[in-house]
Amino acid sequence: MSNIQSVLEEKRLFPPSAEFSAKARLDKDKLAALRAEAEKDPVGFWAELARRNIAWQTPFRTVLDDSQAPNYRWFTDGRTNASANCLDRHLGTKGDKIAIRFEGDKGDTKTWTYRALHAEVCKLANGLKSLGVTKGDRVVLYMPHTPEAVMAMQACARIGAVHSIVFGGFSSGSLRDRIEDAGAKVVITADGNSRGGNIIELKKAVNEALSSGCKSVEKVVVLKRSGHDVAFDAKRDVWWHELLAKQSSNCDPEWVESEHPLFLLYTSGSTGKPKGIQHSTGGYLLGAHMSCLWVFDLQDSDVFWCTADVGWVTGHTYVGYGPLSCGATILMFEGVPTWPDAGRFWKVAQDHGVTIFYTAPTAIRALMKLGEEPPAKYDLSKLRLLGSVGEPINPEAWMWYHRVIGKEKLPIVDTWWQTETGAIMMSPIPGATATKPGSCTQPLPGIFADVVDEAGEAIKSVEAGGYLVITKPWPAMLRTIWGDNERYIKTYFGQFPGKNLYVAGDSTHRDKDGYYWIMGRIDDVLNVSGHRLGTMEIESALVSHPRVAEAAVVGRPHEVKGESVFAFVTCKGARPQGEEADKLLKELREHVGKEIGALAKPDDIRFSDNLPKTRSGKIMRRLLRSIAKGEEITQDISTLENPAIVSQLQGKA
Ligand code: PRX
Repeated sequence: MSNIQSVLEEKRLFPPSAEFSAKARLDKDKLAALRAEAEKDPVGFWAELARRNIAWQTPFRTVLDDSQAPNYRWFTDGRTNASANCLDRHLGTKGDKIAIRFEGDKGDTKTWTYRALHAEVCKLANGLKSLGVTKGDRVVLYMPHTPEAVMAMQACARIGAVHSIVFGGFSSGSLRDRIEDAGAKVVITADGNSRGGNIIELKKAVNEALSSGCKSVEKVVVLKRSGHDVAFDAKRDVWWHELLAKQSSNCDPEWVESEHPLFLLYTSGSTGKPKGIQHSTGGYLLGAHMSCLWVFDLQDSDVFWCTADVGWVTGHTYVGYGPLSCGATILMFEGVPTWPDAGRFWKVAQDHGVTIFYTAPTAIRALMKLGEEPPAKYDLSKLRLLGSVGEPINPEAWMWYHRVIGKEKLPIVDTWWQTETGAIMMSPIPGATATKPGSCTQPLPGIFADVVDEAGEAIKSVEAGGYLVITKPWPAMLRTIWGDNERYIKTYFGQFPGKNLYVAGDSTHRDKDGYYWIMGRIDDVLNVSGHRLGTMEIESALVSHPRVAEAAVVGRPHEVKGESVFAFVTCKGARPQGEEADKLLKELREHVGKEIGALAKPDDIRFSDNLPKTRSGKIMRRLLRSIAKGEEITQDISTLENPAIVSQLQGKA
């Protein structure tokens, strides 16, 4: 409620500057015209964009096939290739343009032109073919955030293989589960890499994952990055550089049907098992491409820096595919914002002449805490546009971004979207939309959002609060959950039977101007530092520890992370106290780190004799959330099986 209050009181409005609008791809009038076209004929609108913006080997005639709804299919009889769209089509006009600028954690730099990138991607694609990878095979990438990760994505796309990237911060156990679910034939990894000065043991984790299962994996391609010694299985493992040395730098793209899966990306939901979100080729690419042009106003001279790791969807759409499909120059940075010092991000932005900077609120809040001096030391005058993604941005962080980084001049695009939506769904258009701090403003042209009540009924008034839904299919939407179409239908379209609404899982408020304010998840999903985590996953990790009998995990508001993990745990045997409790607490945090990854480690763990349950056995999560926040308990606890447990949960007894 306090969140709702604070955004409702937010009255500031920042119209785009005349200077920005004059040069932008879209100004107010052009945006209005696009919206009108989309309203009139949504399917025809996307068809026209797809014809003009995607290079098709075989043009499509069917635009939208909804005969199997909600398994929508777009541009079904068209054939294309994502890598050809990102690379080949620029070779004639932009072969010598820099595609990727790179800076490593330790400050090493390198650039690749479109021609050079194309050659490397072709070599790797040929290398993968030589290992037996063919169209439709799954390849798992567990890689550092370096250009080779983009090359690996592009190489898979080039031969019609389906990549599935697992973020390098996930543990070997999480990696194993994802490899097994996807049935991957090949894994591409690196020996290790440096992040914030620490070595990330990628190959070691792959070795562990493969020694405990993953029977489908035939080969492991290993990029030499850290150069430290790693255990190498000569029969199974092959060095990236040795594989590429033998290959031709030409590889014809495999022309795939538009619906051919481009990638899987696992994300958390409300059960313990992550979902393999499956994206298509043609529709996804169109969403990635158009949103880059509309939202980031990408121009030929831009240097676009999206700070997201390739392991997350933002790193797919706004590092690996979208900007390259536009022929833009991107920057990739391997490190972290504040290492070796508080000015690193700003130094990187300065040194590479970054013009568009896209990051997460958690990073903004962390940098904001370090004060105004670090950014003031660097020349950020090339910046022309700022973006935010991954979680609600609080007005205070928005204002800091606007004032200190944007010098009160630069537009900020707060972009709302999800792994499932493939591309940005709601965002200001920087040359056209007046922004309000904390609001992602309005849906993009061709995207139809609404607010519904608990029965799935649209709320008629403009000003409304409730569930955020998308009312019409869009090209970049997920196609299914890998291996579990029923779960796809149930999770995203099953909440309001018969209504055919995509339910995003977020609650929202729409103000009197029709601007959307995302309030956060309404399911059991946490957003920790912009990383999506299922409470059930963390609970399963906790109960897999021999001392734990039961666990309940909730989110607690956190100044920098947005939300942090708070776990209530009951133990087998007596409740641990004093030193024993401290020791177990540390052990459990490490255990979760090992089971899922460091990103899921609880900040708080509280031991109690019981968890608060209703007489029907349901854990009262709302009560736990209040306790985690340290709130006064005002809710009715008379239905609790054991009301006396409350003070223990509060840490008082
Ligand atoms: O709750 C919303 C939040 O992040 C969720 C999606 O997480 P994920 O699939 O990991 O994708 C993150 C990057 C696109 C959403 O359901 N979210 C994302 N962007 C915003 C946001 N919440 C508020 N404002 C945003 N701009």
